Amino acid sequence: MTARRPSLAVVGATGAIGGVMLQILSQHADVWGEVKLIASPRSAGRKLVVRGEESEVLELTEDAFDDVDVALFLVPDAVSAQWAPIAAAKGTVVIDDSAAFRLDPDVPLVVPEINPHAARIRPRGIVASPNCTTLSLIVAVGALHAEFGVRELVVSSYQAVSGAGRDGVAALREQLSMVAGTELGTQPGDVRRALGDTDGSPFAAPVALNVVPWAGTEAGEGWSSEELAIREECRKVLDLPSLRVAATCVYVPVVATHSMSVHARFENEIAVDRAHEILATAPGVVLYDSPGAGDFPTPSDVVGTDPTWVGRVRRSLDDPRGLELFVCGDNLRKGAALNVAQIAESVAAEFPRV
Ligand SMILES: NC(=O)c1ccc[n+]([C@@H]2O[C@H](COP(=O)([O-])OP(=O)(O)OC[C@H]3O[C@@H](n4cnc5c(N)ncnc54)[C@H](OP(=O)(O)O)[C@@H]3O)[C@@H](O)[C@H]2O)c1
Repeated sequence: MTARRPSLAVVGATGAIGGVMLQILSQHADVWGEVKLIASPRSAGRKLVVRGEESEVLELTEDAFDDVDVALFLVPDAVSAQWAPIAAAKGTVVIDDSAAFRLDPDVPLVVPEINPHAARIRPRGIVASPNCTTLSLIVAVGALHAEFGVRELVVSSYQAVSGAGRDGVAALREQLSMVAGTELGTQPGDVRRALGDTDGSPFAAPVALNVVPWAGTEAGEGWSSEELAIREECRKVLDLPSLRVAATCVYVPVVATHSMSVHARFENEIAVDRAHEILATAPGVVLYDSPGAGDFPTPSDVVGTDPTWVGRVRRSLDDPRGLELFVCGDNLRKGAALNVAQIAESVAAEFPRV
């Protein structure tokens, strides 16, 4: 018996996540039959390479989902909200990387290392993949939770500009080219004045020579949408509706790979040696933790790799149930395209053998 190779559509193939997805499809074991590339009318007719062959980008239309078994949605929230139900109504299983369905109770939110079983129950025909900040920390926290029982997370992020898509990367590159080699960064507001109108920048303040403590939109009572997303998504994936989470999300001038400083508090007292053992053997995690020897994860070393890297693991000085750690994960790989690809490959395995 051989497996029927299901057909695949990549919706948003021309975007930041779409580009990484095309690389992953060329690198992973090939479980797919036909692969269609789809984007907006702006990109229709463009040629992109996937699995070593050129393929023409199609415009997103209802007909584009004819004979498509699985569709990966790597598009803005509004596009997913409109088109994922249309694809699902045609019998296509949708794996959605946007925020449109993540908190829908009828849509599973899946991290294959933590809750793979959830991907099989999909009343709306849609499976959601978490936000890149959630994904950059949850694989490590989930492994510790399985033994110690997590009760609270206090998280500060150092987020890469590609978290804001192609426009984020373009804004950082443009701003860096304007400030490089200048004396800027020594007087209040001088960087902002030199950059003038940061037209097209998705950031609320200059991101070159700066850090920006605001990601997403206003979500009420001073919180940003990105901060609340970490809270709600960690609760849903870990199935811990009362998990206490306080996140502060900050953009930094890094192209790709989100970093996070995490204070995790557990139900049980922490043996730090055991925490090291768990992290050293957890699927999808690399423990890199000899700070005296300069061994700790940084975005410039982690970028382009698949796992969540963890370092600076130490027991909280004033709380025997607390653990401090520093995590780095490539927001375009595990934080987005890789997690979507892993979910899709598990769905592909459901297709009948013929
Ligand atoms: N960047 C991250 O780190 C990250 C992580 C996790 C999740 N996500 C989510 O993943 C999704 C894609 O993000 P991204 O960073 O790849 O964005 P991006 O670089 O801006 O790319 C957006 C993609 O969506 C397509 N698109 C836009 N409007 C469309 C329309 N009306 N019809 C069809 N296609 C349309 C674009 O096609 P054209 O080229 O034709 O415009 C492009 O392929 C977003 O929902 C984002 O929130 C991103």
